[in-house]
Amino acid sequence: MLTLLMFVISFRTTMGEVDPAFVQDQQHRPKLSIIEAKGIPEIDLSPILPHAAPDQYDIDTLVKEIGTACKEWGFFQVTNHGVSLSLRQKLEEASRKFFAQSLEDKKKVGRDEINPTGYYDTEHTKNVRDWKEVFDFLSKDPTFIPLTSDEFDNRVIQWSNPSPQYPPQFRIIIEEYIEEMEKLAYKLLELIALSLGVEAKRFEEFFKDQTSFIRFNHYPPCPYPHLALGVGRHKDAGALTILAQDDVGGLEVKRKTDQEWVLVKPTPDAYIINICDIIQVWSNDVYESVEHRVTVNTKKDRFSIPFFLNPGHDAEIKPLEELINEQNPSKYRPYKWGKFFVHKIGSNFKKQDVENLQIYHYKLS
Ligand code: OGA
Ligand code: NI
Repeated sequence: MLTLLMFVISFRTTMGEVDPAFVQDQQHRPKLSIIEAKGIPEIDLSPILPHAAPDQYDIDTLVKEIGTACKEWGFFQVTNHGVSLSLRQKLEEASRKFFAQSLEDKKKVGRDEINPTGYYDTEHTKNVRDWKEVFDFLSKDPTFIPLTSDEFDNRVIQWSNPSPQYPPQFRIIIEEYIEEMEKLAYKLLELIALSLGVEAKRFEEFFKDQTSFIRFNHYPPCPYPHLALGVGRHKDAGALTILAQDDVGGLEVKRKTDQEWVLVKPTPDAYIINICDIIQVWSNDVYESVEHRVTVNTKKDRFSIPFFLNPGHDAEIKPLEELINEQNPSKYRPYKWGKFFVHKIGSNFKKQDVENLQIYHYKLS
C-alpha cells in the first residue's frame, strides 16, 4: 500500500496539481460514459486443440470466423485456447508481487537505453506519458536487434533479459508461459493465413529469430482518470498481440463501423487477440491494425499481460505476393522490421518533438 501511495504521489507535482506530462489533449481524453463492446467476437478454438479429432468442416468454419473478426474488428477473444489456467494464475500472482515491491527494488531490474528490457515507469505513447509501470521480458535470450534505426547502419547488438530476484521463480514461470504464448500465436497465425487464402505455414519463416516479448502492465489508481490514460491511443507495431487482462476493465478499442471507443469487457480465462501493423501490411490492408487505449480509474489497480509476437529483426515486411496483382497492387514499400522496431522503442522511451514512425509512412500513393 505504501509503495502504491508513493507511486501515486510521485506522479503528481509538489503543488498537488496534475503533472502535465500525463495530460492528454482535449480530443483524446476518455469519455466518462463508456460503451461496452458486445460486438467483439468470441471465438472457440476447440476444433484445433491438440486432442481434438480434426474435422475439416469445423476448421473451415473457424477460419471463416477468424477472417470475419479480423476484417470487421481487428480484435477478438479466444476461448478453449489450450493455455493452462493455473499457469496464467501463477503468472498473474507473480506479476502482482513484483509490482508490489519498492520502486528502488523494481529499479534493480530497470530498463536502460542499451538494454530496454525490465522495469520502467516512464513510457510515452504519442509523446504523452502513460499512467502505468511495466516489466518487459524477451522470448529469446539473447535477441538480435539493429544498433540504430539508420537503414545504412548494419551493426547488430544483443538484448538480454533481466534476472528478477523477486518473486522467487518469476523467471521460470515467465519462460514457461512464453512457450505457451508462442504455441498459441503460431496456431492463430495459421488460421489467419488460411483466412487470407494463403498456405497455413506461410508466416512461419519470418519468426526464426523472433524479437517477441512479453510485457507486464500495472495501472495504479489515478486521481485524474478524465485527463490521463493508462496507455494512450496506439496501434501495436508487431504481427499479433495476445493479451491477458484481469477483471477490472479499461481496454478500449476503436470500433471500425463508427470510430467510437468501446470497452472490451473482461471474460475470465479468455485471451484478447489483435491484428497488428505487420499483418496489415502482409494482407495489403485486407485486415487492419486497430487503434486501442487503456483508461484508468480512481479506485482499482489493473494488471494486464500482453505477449507481442514480432518477427526477426532482418525480416523484410511487404504485402504477400499471392495477394497482389495488377488490379490490386501493393500498397506499401518494403521495410525492415528491426529498423522500424528500434525507431519505435527509442520514441517510446522519452518524449520527442517529432511524430512517431507509423506504417503509413511506408504507404505508396
Ligand atoms: C499495450 C496495450 C492493453 C492493456 O500494452 O500495447 O494495448 O489492456 N495494452 O493493457
Ligand atoms: Ni497495444
